[in-house]
Amino acid sequence: MLTVNHLAKSYDGEKKNLTDVSFQVAPSEVAVIIGPSGAGKTTILRSLNQLIKDDDGEILLDDVDLRQLNRAELRRARCQIGMIFQNYNLIEPLTALENVLHGCLGTKSNLAGMFSLYRNSEKLEALQLLQKVGLGDFAYQQCRSLSGGQKQRVGIARALMQHPKLILCDEPIASLDPKSTRTVMTLLRDLAVNDGISVLINLHQVDIAREFADHVIGINQGTVVFDDSPAALTDTAVANIYRKQPVAEEVGVNG
Ligand SMILES: Nc1ncnc2c1ncn2[C@@H]1O[C@H](COP(=O)(O)OP(=O)(O)O)[C@@H](O)[C@H]1O
Ligand SMILES: [Mg+2]
Repeated sequence: MLTVNHLAKSYDGEKKNLTDVSFQVAPSEVAVIIGPSGAGKTTILRSLNQLIKDDDGEILLDDVDLRQLNRAELRRARCQIGMIFQNYNLIEPLTALENVLHGCLGTKSNLAGMFSLYRNSEKLEALQLLQKVGLGDFAYQQCRSLSGGQKQRVGIARALMQHPKLILCDEPIASLDPKSTRTVMTLLRDLAVNDGISVLINLHQVDIAREFADHVIGINQGTVVFDDSPAALTDTAVANIYRKQPVAEEVGVNG
């Protein structure tokens, strides 16, 4: 279970980029964060695995507050959090299998990691994960030769290699065509339902959020303005989530 309480962040110490953000994502649940560009979606995700230092709040992953951990503890905790990126973050000249194997680097000694020393059991697991995401036949193909949808599925298999409790996805379908979008979203849903993983996805596409989320979180100007089921995500609710910042009143004009 992921529980975020009163998360706050300012990049420059003045403007509040996140204000008092609180929400939960249960195991087996797909939660989708929607909101306009610049609302703070990426900032939330990067705070959750502590890639950026937030200013205040709690980030509880099964009751452990990630904000309170030392470096070694955080490194171990991060192994429980899989990350999926819009641009896949694969090593393009390496094969799909090699990229998936990189998912378990966090659990290896530096030396074993440096020389890419993997056990046969790890190679077998990586192959099984590629089969799970429908890419069994592409294991030995260089990632640079795969389509966008296939690359994203390699990214998902790599995240699964960590045996994550939580998967964070930042705009995972933003570069994909409609067919690949559905494949990737269906896969993420199946992982939540079948493997008990909490899945949190930043998206722009409201229709996809409505279809695939158990739970939608709307963010506007760094604040949670909606947290409810997709059924409650009416057009009025969407308009409120995407509303533009009110124009600041001019001060000092005409006295
Ligand atoms: N590294 C950074 N330094 C300073 N400001 C940033 C940085 N990253 C994001 N911001 C600002 O924080 C706000 C939220 O950005 P972001 O989390 O990227 O929003 P979203 O992902 O919803 O588009 C924006 O105003 C953005 O300009
Ligand atoms: Mg973003």
